[in-house]
Amino acid sequence: MNRILWLGVGAAALLTACSTFTPPTREETQQVVKSSFRERSIAKLDRLNQTEMQQLCSDAARTKTDVPLADQKRIMAQAEAAVKFPADGKWLGDYKQGERIAQSGVGMQWSDNDKTVNGGNCYACHQISPQELSHGNIGPPLVGYGKLRGTSEPIMKYTWTRIWNSHAFNACSTMPRYGAAGILTEAQIKDVMALLLDPNSPVNK
Ligand code: HEC
Repeated sequence: MNRILWLGVGAAALLTACSTFTPPTREETQQVVKSSFRERSIAKLDRLNQTEMQQLCSDAARTKTDVPLADQKRIMAQAEAAVKFPADGKWLGDYKQGERIAQSGVGMQWSDNDKTVNGGNCYACHQISPQELSHGNIGPPLVGYGKLRGTSEPIMKYTWTRIWNSHAFNACSTMPRYGAAGILTEAQIKDVMALLLDPNSPVNK
């Protein structure tokens, strides 16, 4: 056989191998993850225990399928029902403080301790203040957020819910659950809200 033919045979074999590939099971994946992590300082192994939402979303990503619609609806409804709105009814804190929180990627790592003040690391995924040139693009740009949407009650509730638990709107959102997972305090969420919604914030200039 000539070389071209051999190449053809090789390519066909490779294609067959790829099309018969079965993804590892959830148990196999967990085994690998568990065997490569160890407890250190505040980072405990219970972090590897997935919630039902995380299991469903990981399974779907691993098998390249969608989470069944009924499960998606349930995940979103549960997330929304558990949101805690500000106790004093005030939505907005200090936008300057909000900018610091959005910039800070500190917290919840083994090198932190239980006194570390967590940041939001929002710039890792979003463009927010137009003055900050270093930002990620996993999430949509939030420049002009308040200017575009205003500060009505429904917008306040929507934005607070997004930050508290983004899974209320997108079952398998990749945005951290800042309120639900205890990453940011109520006061910090107010500050980040002000960064997005206060008319004086650089975001809305
Ligand atoms: C790991 C990436 C990631 C981080 C970090 C992140 N977000 Fe997001 N965010 C997203 C994605 C992705 C979306 C798009 C919707 C979705 O998938 O849920 C989004 C959506 C949003 C929305 C809704 C935007 C709209 O047009 O309605 C707001 C508001 C928001 N994020 C604010 C924040 C704030 C404030 C922070 C920091 C406290 C933050 N995000 C941190 C990924 C992230």
